[in-house]
Amino acid sequence: MASEKDLEGQAENTENPDHHGPGHHHGHEHEGWWHQVRYLKHAPQLWTSPINEAVVGLIDPGEGEAMLDVGAGMGPAVLAAARRVGNGRVFALDPSPLMRGIMRFRRRTAGLADRLSIMRGKAEEIPLDDASVNGAWSINCVHHWGDDEVACTELGRVMKPDGRLLLLDEQFSHPDHPRHDSYDDSRHGEPGFFHEIDTDRLGGLLEEAGFRIERAGDERLDEVPVRLIRAVRLSD
Ligand SMILES: C[S@@+](CC[C@H](N)C(=O)[O-])C[C@H]1O[C@@H](n2cnc3c(N)ncnc32)[C@H](O)[C@@H]1O
Repeated sequence: MASEKDLEGQAENTENPDHHGPGHHHGHEHEGWWHQVRYLKHAPQLWTSPINEAVVGLIDPGEGEAMLDVGAGMGPAVLAAARRVGNGRVFALDPSPLMRGIMRFRRRTAGLADRLSIMRGKAEEIPLDDASVNGAWSINCVHHWGDDEVACTELGRVMKPDGRLLLLDEQFSHPDHPRHDSYDDSRHGEPGFFHEIDTDRLGGLLEEAGFRIERAGDERLDEVPVRLIRAVRLSD
């Protein structure tokens, strides 16, 4: 198993900030420190998140399994997952040094160092071997991906046959979302900023990457409006 130092050294972000692929949404990861610091405004919601815990419940990590969180943020899902995998492994991927630093702090205080690997990387460049995880999720993150086509191919590559995938964005702009008032139109003045998963497009890309789509569309998870895709990796 690679040490964390090794993992931290991988997947250097070398992308050209001017290049936006066909699936470009916002590609925030290259917007630098100011963007990352702005996350701190939402720290309470990123620190603990019922939706993150609900997603872990749906993916249902088992004893001995390997799990991947793409854009793990402050780590609410990876901490919950790490408590379930026993001698398995949870990989927390995030391009932001600030988020990785916070996760390292939380991992230490939770005593989960033996089963939680924190990695520098992004959806489009996952520093894991082929067919190495039993499950993966990405929560409130798909709209950050710079190239969703490459990201879906990467997810198909690292997932083992029968591996479970869940991509989810909370619909903060939905009037029924509990935090609707604080999010609506307040970010970049763009309505709908936070619920841009195009389930048709992503579903197609995931099928091309070897997944079978189980569900795709708008749902309620713990009564919160979300847009999600659930998929299972087929054998090659
Ligand atoms: C809104 S936060 C969500 C964090 C966490 N998933 C949660 O639900 O609390 C989005 C995260 O995606 C990360 N991110 C940005 N671009 C990314 C990319 N291309 N691939 C993976 N993660 C990315 C950001 O650094 C940030 O931590």
